[in-house]
Amino acid sequence: MSLAGRELILGVTGSIAAYKAVYLLRELTQLGAGVTVCLTEHAGEFVGPLTFRTLSGRPVLTDLFDPQSADAVEHVALAERAHAVLVAPATANLLAKAAHGIADDFLTTLLLAARSPVLMVPAMDGGMWEHPAVVANVATLRARGVTVLEPDAGALASGLSGKGRFPEPDAIVEALRRLLAPVRDFAGERLLITAGPTREPIDPVRYISNRSSGKMGYGLAAAALRRGAQVTLIAGPTQITPPPGAVFVPVQTAEEMREAVLQHLSSATVVIKAAAVADYRAKHPSAAKIKGKRDLTLELTPNPDILAEVAGRRTGAFVVGFAAETHDVAANARAKLEAKGIDLLVANDVSQRGIGFDADENEVLLLDRWGGTRALPRMPKSAVADAILSHTLAVRAAAATRKAVR
Ligand code: CTP
Repeated sequence: MSLAGRELILGVTGSIAAYKAVYLLRELTQLGAGVTVCLTEHAGEFVGPLTFRTLSGRPVLTDLFDPQSADAVEHVALAERAHAVLVAPATANLLAKAAHGIADDFLTTLLLAARSPVLMVPAMDGGMWEHPAVVANVATLRARGVTVLEPDAGALASGLSGKGRFPEPDAIVEALRRLLAPVRDFAGERLLITAGPTREPIDPVRYISNRSSGKMGYGLAAAALRRGAQVTLIAGPTQITPPPGAVFVPVQTAEEMREAVLQHLSSATVVIKAAAVADYRAKHPSAAKIKGKRDLTLELTPNPDILAEVAGRRTGAFVVGFAAETHDVAANARAKLEAKGIDLLVANDVSQRGIGFDADENEVLLLDRWGGTRALPRMPKSAVADAILSHTLAVRAAAATRKAVR
């Protein structure tokens, strides 16, 4: 993986190892990467901005920058476009702020704005790397998908020796290459993904629906495309723009979703039903707007269970369902998996705040039909999407060998 033409942000924090970031920057620019350096206030005390400016050929972002200025806004946008964000060296203080989403300076603000992979290269003295607070912060960051390199062991600046040294530039560049190399493990797979809510009309202006935002299903579609899959995304009404490259089939009702799914089913190798299908629809939707301020009884009838039908057709596709539960999540999910006859079930507890429905994060349990269960920690839906896709391949491969052995 060449670094030529890659746009990188290099954050430098206040460690004595800040001078080593100068060598790293030189290596990155020699490899053809475009690097914008962001210095924290303390980093600037170790190495001045002029050195970084000269080597990168670009203005250096510092906190002297007015965060309200148009330039600053543009640089935050730059973080959104960068191929990777590198923080080297990363102090214990920076790791703590990043783990907790604190944005009190330019660099930590950029980290929250970044949409690209993040690589942290910690360097710290005096046994800090082993402190439980640092260990916990590193675990949080890793669970969220951030790559945190292990520091080297050896002599430290204080004269002590231990783990905490800034790694050699070659090791950092290698980690960066791995981070930027696209994983194409879904090449050749054809994914059928459903997303969002369905809308069941009551009359021409009213409908029954639910709070699904579609973020999980759209996240899965984007991740699968990135990993080389062909994707058909069948979605109820959402506010999200479909990812470029997907065959997009917009639908409104559960019945329309069912038809679209059955139409695209035969070619799919994996079906993922992330949609929150309305369980009921009005039995007799009114052709005219229902008038009046009087009691109204609405007769509802159940919608077809699309997931159970897909699994029942046994087309050979690996079938993944979702379960929204409010209590006894694992037991209810296991029962649902068996009742619907699917291969993998992603269960989330929708009674918890900040995860699941309409949230940016999710914390899910993955149950497979062969009895396996895996709990994923809370993380952004984009990271959950990648974890579900990886688990899908792993479970399918394990199931194939089990069949071969029997
Ligand atoms: N599902 C479906 N068709 C339906 C209802 C649900 O395909 N009519 C799918 C969803 O896309 C999801 C899974 O079934 O993948 C589980 O949805 P959930 O609402 O949790 O379960 P229900 O089957 O509706 O069961 P219950 O409401 O009783 O918990």
